[in-house]
Amino acid sequence: MKFFIDTANLDQIAEAQQLGVLDGVTTNPSLMAKEGITGKENILKHYVDICNIVEGDVSAEVVATEFDGMVKEGEELAKLHEQIVVKVPMIKDGVKALKYFSDNGIRTNCTLVFSAGQALLAAKAGATYVSPFLGRLDDISTDGLNLIAEIRQIYDNYAFETQILAASIRHTMHVIDCAKLGSDVMTGPLSSITGLLKHPLTDIGLEKFLADYRKGNS
Ligand code: E4P
Repeated sequence: MKFFIDTANLDQIAEAQQLGVLDGVTTNPSLMAKEGITGKENILKHYVDICNIVEGDVSAEVVATEFDGMVKEGEELAKLHEQIVVKVPMIKDGVKALKYFSDNGIRTNCTLVFSAGQALLAAKAGATYVSPFLGRLDDISTDGLNLIAEIRQIYDNYAFETQILAASIRHTMHVIDCAKLGSDVMTGPLSSITGLLKHPLTDIGLEKFLADYRKGNS
């Protein structure tokens, strides 16, 4: 399973990259705003800055909501850097744009997916990635993990190449459950990656190994 980090914070992206297990980055307009990145030139420059830190795919979201605007924006984003993947919302014009980008060799991430039907449409339109938002489904007492399982089954039934990018990951158990279900990618905060490191028996065991070593080597 690929690990993406879901942030526009350059320090956190660099920290995840230095860990050596990062495969890419997802951003969205809210995450960009959180970092205070505003204005077209600054936004485009920030995407390039992110690409220069990581080796993998970087999702950059269009803000247009009609077909022509999405195509114009997406083509501009894709030209910025070869690592850019154009993020397109799951709306009617978004599906048309996914098909256009797919036909023109531009990689895409279909975002704001909350149902198996939406995921099926995204795959039919040739999306590179589909992003089911499991944390936001959990927030409204709906089983987000069940959606991942449904999409996995549908994509496997028809050998769709669209990769399932489990998004809106909130914690380490989401990561583990998505891995069990065969999600291709997960995107979450830095804590959902570094949290996987932690086990008290590891800390206790290491402390004992080092104490025993010091006894015989001091
Ligand atoms: C996906 O690409 C989105 O940026 C993201 O995962 C949304 O997560 P949130 O529900 O924590 O905002």
